Amino acid sequence: MKKINLTIFVIILSGFCFPLLSQENKLIVKTEEGKDTISKYIYGHFAEHLGRCIYDGIWVGEDSPIPNTRGLRNDVIEALKGINLPVLRWPGGCFADSYHWKDGIGPKENRPPIVNMFWGNVTEDNSFGTHEFLDLCEILGTEPYIAVNVGSGTVKEASEWVEYVTSDNDNPMSRLRKQNGREQPWKVKFWGIGNENWGCGGNMDASYYASLYKRYATYCRAEYRIASGGLNDDPAWTETVMNSTKNHQDLIQGYSYHHYTVCNTWEKKGSATNFDENEWFKTISKNFQMEENLKEHMAIMDKYDPDKKIGLYADEWGNWHDVEPGTNPGFLYQQNTLRDALTASIYLNIFNNHCDRVKMANIAQTVNVLQAMILTEGSKMIKTPSFYVFKMYKVHHDALLMPLEITCEDYVLNNQRIPALSASASKNKEGQINITIANVNPEKSIPTDLTIDNEKYRVTGSEIITADKMNAYNDFDKDEMVYIQEFKSYKQKGNNIQVTLPSKSVVLLTLSEK
Ligand code: AHR
Repeated sequence: MKKINLTIFVIILSGFCFPLLSQENKLIVKTEEGKDTISKYIYGHFAEHLGRCIYDGIWVGEDSPIPNTRGLRNDVIEALKGINLPVLRWPGGCFADSYHWKDGIGPKENRPPIVNMFWGNVTEDNSFGTHEFLDLCEILGTEPYIAVNVGSGTVKEASEWVEYVTSDNDNPMSRLRKQNGREQPWKVKFWGIGNENWGCGGNMDASYYASLYKRYATYCRAEYRIASGGLNDDPAWTETVMNSTKNHQDLIQGYSYHHYTVCNTWEKKGSATNFDENEWFKTISKNFQMEENLKEHMAIMDKYDPDKKIGLYADEWGNWHDVEPGTNPGFLYQQNTLRDALTASIYLNIFNNHCDRVKMANIAQTVNVLQAMILTEGSKMIKTPSFYVFKMYKVHHDALLMPLEITCEDYVLNNQRIPALSASASKNKEGQINITIANVNPEKSIPTDLTIDNEKYRVTGSEIITADKMNAYNDFDKDEMVYIQEFKSYKQKGNNIQVTLPSKSVVLLTLSEK
């Protein structure tokens, strides 16, 4: 039996744990002990010039037969509005360090094409650039997060981009913006200084990048400048960047961190839809591993920034499967099943529970790429199981994190074990408590004893995402298989709620004051 306080969540992949009796699954919500806010930016997204994310997925152009607003797909906009995107990161990803923003402004017929060297070597006509991206953000009511080019760009190019977008002084860049039809500056708070500069962003050493970072950040006058960070379990990069900026913390407001879950190997990742319980288990246990990796990076940040002024921005995360058979391997188009919904729930619970440091997260990616919210095929569109998790979790946006004590049984397969439950809780501005819980066991429903430390709350809402099969997914021209349904398997008595969490499910319970 393990008692797991979510703030010090421990994953035990092997060991001596005896399976718990079902009545020992317990959650206790401490309704008066909240102190940290779950930033809505944790529910952010990422849209790169990659495959069919931008072109086809978001942008079809004004002349397309697909209904659009100034070239942006209406169906996709409408769907995305349903999950209140708080922030959208663009233009990459690897693409960012090959992108020269001036090629993407002005009359479309004058824009030079660009070959997308990282993703399929396809030629893009640059019809989607700064103005189109910021138009999308305005339509969606989302905050833009722009990554500048460090790998193949210059400090001048980057600082001019910030000026072009945000300056209201009279200067060459604001004149150029006005000449291109935009009188008022846009409000863009978030600027990333490069992307994965240890890899596709220039294959730099950490110390070289750290020096460059300070140079770029000095001239990019933005409210939030975000340093490009390490990947999964590489703390050395974090150590170097934090150390190098320790006497210049006015230049760094965020530190980026990427975490992808690959079920097998990078060469053979595994099918998005055709998998067995072994692969389910492997994926879910690697999802949980995110917390350990995160904690390692946060401990380094704590050393240099004990007051937690610098936010950790998990600005790429999610499951990375093999591409769908027959599709361009460089386009990273994958389907999305109930397994991905569980993944989204686990990651988001982890981010919520560490919101004192995690200030933003951006799932990769919004449309048609990796763990997408939306898939399109010509004029058709579907919402994925991951979309529905983001819809369900809207309740946590800017809500106060409630400490949650969780004691749970293990999910055991082939003598390996991981916790069967993942959860987080928050209190919103109206005083409602929202608890999100995932049961990751695909075979077993779990009776759980939920205690609220205060008598005044009663359950006023409950939802579930589940399906009959662990690889259920939504497909074109078919009825949806995975979506949000009403959840009824609970019974409240005083401040105690007996909940039966169905196998492979994500549940939301909302409690209001009596
Ligand atoms: O999201 C796909 C790619 O993954 C991004 O371009 C890159 O930053 C990461 O390696």
